[in-house]
Formats: sequence, C-alpha cells, structure tokens
Amino acid sequence: MNSAQLTLEQFGRLCRLIYDRLGLSFDDKKIDFLRKRVNKRMVSLSLETPSDYLMRLAYGENSESEMQALANLITTNETYMFREYEQLEAFAHACLPEVIDCKEKQGNRSLRIWIAGCSSGEEAYTVAIIVREVFPAIATWDMHLLATDIDEQRLVIAMAGVYDKRSMKNVPPEYLDRHFTQSVANWRIKPRTRSLLTIEHLNLHDRAQMRQMRSYDFIFCRNVLIYFDDTSRKAVVDHFYNALNPGGFLFLGHSESVGRISSAFRLRRMGEHLVYMKPE
Ligand SMILES: C[S@@+](CC[C@H](N)C(=O)[O-])C[C@H]1O[C@@H](n2cnc3c(N)ncnc32)[C@H](O)[C@@H]1O
Repeated sequence: MNSAQLTLEQFGRLCRLIYDRLGLSFDDKKIDFLRKRVNKRMVSLSLETPSDYLMRLAYGENSESEMQALANLITTNETYMFREYEQLEAFAHACLPEVIDCKEKQGNRSLRIWIAGCSSGEEAYTVAIIVREVFPAIATWDMHLLATDIDEQRLVIAMAGVYDKRSMKNVPPEYLDRHFTQSVANWRIKPRTRSLLTIEHLNLHDRAQMRQMRSYDFIFCRNVLIYFDDTSRKAVVDHFYNALNPGGFLFLGHSESVGRISSAFRLRRMGEHLVYMKPE
C-alpha cells in the first residue's frame, strides 16, 4: 500500500477532470473522500503516486475507462423502493391519468418513461409497479420504460432485480406477492414486471448521448442533480426539456428545483404536489 496523498493542488485538478467528464461537483470538504477513492484506484493499477494517477486519468490510453472506474467509486447511490411516496402519488393519480387520457384521445397508445440516475433500479421498478397497478391496460400499449445510470456496478444490481429488506421497507404489503418472489432474505422482481424495463448505461453529462433522448412522456431524475452545480444542472435540465413531449412531466427530488436555472417548464399543482410540465 502506498502512502502518497493527493495534495490540495492535485485535488483541484482531479475535481476539474471529474466535473468536465461527469458534471459532478466536489467541494473542499470532500478531499478525504476523494483521497481514499484515488488510493484505491492507485492500488488496483499499481501506481506509486497521485501524480501518476492523474496523468493516467487525464491522458492515459484508457482514460475514459479509468474515469468510469472512478465514477463507480464516487457516486452516491442511496435509493429504495417507493422513495418520496407523496410525489409518486401525484404521478399515479394525477399526472399518469392525464397523459394516458390525452394519448387515448389522440389514438396514440404508447407510453415512454425514462428514469435517469436509477442507481440499483429500485425507483425504476417502483414506477413499473405503479404503472401496472394504476393502469392494467398498459399490457395492450406500447410501453417503453428506460432506466439509466452512470454507475456500472449499480446497473448490474438493477438488471438482477433482487433486493434486501432495506430496499423493500416502503413497498406497500399488497404489492409484495403480486410483483416479487421472496426467498430467505431477498425479494426478486417477477419477470412480468422486470420485462417492462430496459436498463442502460448513460452519462447525463454526455451531450452526444443526451441529444439522442427524445419523445418521453415522463422523466424521473430524483436525488441526482444535487451532486451537480448550477451550470451542469442547467445543461441536464435543458436536455430533459428537449427529450420530453409537450405535456410531458419532469420529476425531481423533493429538495430539487429547476426554478433558478430554467423558466421553460410550467410548474403545476398535481394532487398535493408541484411538478414540472413541458408546456403544450
Ligand atoms: C442518490 S442516487 C438516486 C437514485 C434514485 N434516483 C432515487 O432517487 O432513489 C444518485 C444516482 O445518480 C447517478 N449519477 C450521478 N452522476 C451521474 C451522471 N453524470 N450520469 C448518470 N447518472 C449519474 C449515481 O450513479 C447514482 O446512482
């Protein structure tokens, strides 16, 4: 184990590299956190000094895959099923019926939902369960439910769809049997619900990837943009705006707002909640 520590100047360079490629913003209080992650990568790569590591990350032949390896270590992945329940109620009982009704009238039986920053998948399966429960006729619609994240290790868990007690603590009991198979300490999402989801790697800070995202009726990006600064947050929210259909809804976390960074969305009260809608 080497003992060389990231200096303040190297910490600054590392933060700029992370910000440029991932959009994530770290302040000085995070120096010990990043030092530990860098040390871990140095051990894995048998590198002697943080300076060698920064060279590899910035200019190495595999700098992109190294940034991915670092991303897997530095993202915050806290999540669980049915998180921020009241907001999900607004989705289930106000927004979803409105969009479905509007589409039925247009003779357009397709529904497209994107869960951006899905971590290990709990939020995406939550949305899949809600759609199936509230709108059973979805089985006859063309339904596209996409879950994306930058963290490859979390996506492996999302693909497996197996969760422990902590992830399951908020699942309404009546949904347990219908959507999960229980083993000793785990719950596995049933194939019928699992099959609604497509799970993919996507970096929200990658302009080329983001420009391809189009025609969504709903975008969930909850508890993700808190790790971005206003500039990178605005870039992501502008992409979301372009990716939504007119009349489509954007759900952010409770503590997050787009008010300061974009005036393009219309703030609407839906049920007990305020949500962002792309005007028609
Ligand atoms: C705290 S979790 C939120 C999970 C879920 N949305 C929820 O509310 O329960 C934040 C997620 O955002 C992802 N994330 C952070 N930066 C990202 C980026 N640039 N592109 C895509 N995902 C990112 C992280 O990997 C992490 O899984």
